[in-house]
Amino acid sequence: MSSLFSPLSLKGLTLRNRIAVSPMCQYMAEDGLVTDWHGPHYASLARGGAALVVVEATAVSPEGRITPADLGIWNDEQANRLVPIVRDIKAAGAVAGIQIAHAGRKASANRPWEGDDHIPDGDPRGWETLAPSALPFGANLTKVPHAVTPEEIGRIKADFVSAAARARDAGFEWLVLHFAHGYLGQSFFSEHSNQRDDEYGGSAEKRGRFLLETLEAVRQVWPSHLPLTARFGVIEFDGRDEQTTADAIALIKKFKETGLDFIDVSMGFSTPEANIPWGANMLADLTARVRTETGLPCATSWNISKPEEADAMIRNGQLDMVMLARPMLADPHWPYMAARRLGIENPSWVMPPPYAHWLERYRGE
Ligand SMILES: Cc1cc2nc3c(=O)[nH]c(=O)nc-3n(C[C@H](O)[C@H](O)[C@H](O)COP(=O)(O)O)c2cc1C
Repeated sequence: MSSLFSPLSLKGLTLRNRIAVSPMCQYMAEDGLVTDWHGPHYASLARGGAALVVVEATAVSPEGRITPADLGIWNDEQANRLVPIVRDIKAAGAVAGIQIAHAGRKASANRPWEGDDHIPDGDPRGWETLAPSALPFGANLTKVPHAVTPEEIGRIKADFVSAAARARDAGFEWLVLHFAHGYLGQSFFSEHSNQRDDEYGGSAEKRGRFLLETLEAVRQVWPSHLPLTARFGVIEFDGRDEQTTADAIALIKKFKETGLDFIDVSMGFSTPEANIPWGANMLADLTARVRTETGLPCATSWNISKPEEADAMIRNGQLDMVMLARPMLADPHWPYMAARRLGIENPSWVMPPPYAHWLERYRGE
């Protein structure tokens, strides 16, 4: 039976346990480039014992950034500056992953701690946003996006492909396509943001087309022995959830046929009107449903913080892996703490020797 501390094999990789660091934007980049902030941040997360560290949403193009301080991977210098981060994550025994993203109509915003709203039109720090339809998100994000033409859709898909190739060449071994949280991929899928009447809008099948074609194109450059994964919002909590989830599951089945290896089940965040039932392990049952109906290995995050509960969700077959964000910010050594709490004998393997030696040898003294 699988448990939080059993290895997970997927394609040519073996993850040392079922704990992953969920992607977390740091909003500390300059011109899309890694700064002094990122190296220690990612190294410390990997040294804490997680099996997989997914580098934050990294923009496939300048206009795909959420804020001017997002990481980017639209040029070679940006990719080269990510190489030491890959090296540090691997040196700590974890797999290095990266999420590639386009923020769509949620782009051109101020950092969360500097307003979290759209940069005003006319401010030189901002830019024109792109989306399936010229509909603003609302609330704090009021900018009206430009509705992309089929030619622009082709260019964005090509940006995802170039980003995936650069991520591959930088040494990443786990790729996450960001199809969640109201960003561009999700916004094609959601009727809240997609009211197109061409082949990219209308029926659920047509609204899934951009995502499926992007996946298909990326699959051509992403090595077949490495996991190609996506983060996808399968529920909006907007009162239409049964239909949205059924449509999402149908699309995930097509993702699987197209070569997707793993899915991180998340929320849509396509409308500020959502009524989200925040609570511990809140997406676990939904993830179990996606896992059963699609047959794909699944993970989820959102308020998973207790080792016993994370372990139980893996043992019960609800999830294959937990994606932790805030618990890892609060304690990058969460995996070590979890191993201790779960009574794992000799959990020193989750930590590098300069830490493990002292924690294990002098345990109890
Ligand atoms: C600082 C921060 C940045 C985040 N950035 C991203 C991101 O880049 N991509 C993404 O898919 N989710 C992002 N999220 C969402 C997290 O990956 C995660 O799903 C969410 O925080 C719920 O998990 P938690 O309850 O363990 O924090 C971010 C969350 C935080 C706290």
